[in-house]
Amino acid sequence: MAKSSKQWLHRHVTDHYVKTARKQGYRSRAAFKLLEIDSREKLFRPGQTIIDLGAAPGGWSQVAAEKVKPGGRVLAIDLLPIVPISGVTIHQGDFREIGYYERADLVLSDLSPNLSGIRNVDQARWLELAEAALELSRKWLKPDGVFVVKAFHGEAFDTLRSRLESAFKKVKIIKPPASRGESTETYVVARALRAG
Ligand SMILES: C[S@@+](CC[C@H](N)C(=O)[O-])C[C@H]1O[C@@H](n2cnc3c(N)ncnc32)[C@H](O)[C@@H]1O
Repeated sequence: MAKSSKQWLHRHVTDHYVKTARKQGYRSRAAFKLLEIDSREKLFRPGQTIIDLGAAPGGWSQVAAEKVKPGGRVLAIDLLPIVPISGVTIHQGDFREIGYYERADLVLSDLSPNLSGIRNVDQARWLELAEAALELSRKWLKPDGVFVVKAFHGEAFDTLRSRLESAFKKVKIIKPPASRGESTETYVVARALRAG
């Protein structure tokens, strides 16, 4: 696709979802990416425990908190502050520095590093975050738990995919329509942890 068409698509998709998010009370248009992944993958059930990594400003946590009612719990973690959300426990800090999590049914990672604009550097930065999120999932997910992680196409994508395939029996790549304007972004849904 020509660069100007890509820019148009990005603006168009962004504007549409930003307006709809505002109307529906979501803090970010990212909320629609999770809703779209859920409509295909049926991620949520009432009563679940959810860990949301890279949660600010809180769109995914808002969706998760609604979906796990009644009886569910959502832990939202970000380096940035998050304005309180009903049904969500918020922790401000680096998720890699938290020593203890509760066992979770679902680990969500919409983590994005600070981008430098230098392709190799950015690929290395997001891979490092995604791998740390994968390690956390291996440790804290229940055996039938699910891990959803944002990834970016490029050299590091195959590395992440093969690590996910070593850790989980089922790995599916999904490009939700709300993510369409962001050309290299995609999501991976991983299920059924392998033993050990
Ligand atoms: C795309 S935003 C998440 C949007 C969110 N899912 C929503 O729906 O509102 C990515 C977030 O990852 C966070 N982040 C990046 N590195 C992190 C780290 N090491 N620990 C915690 N959060 C981190 C950033 O601060 C940023 O807020």
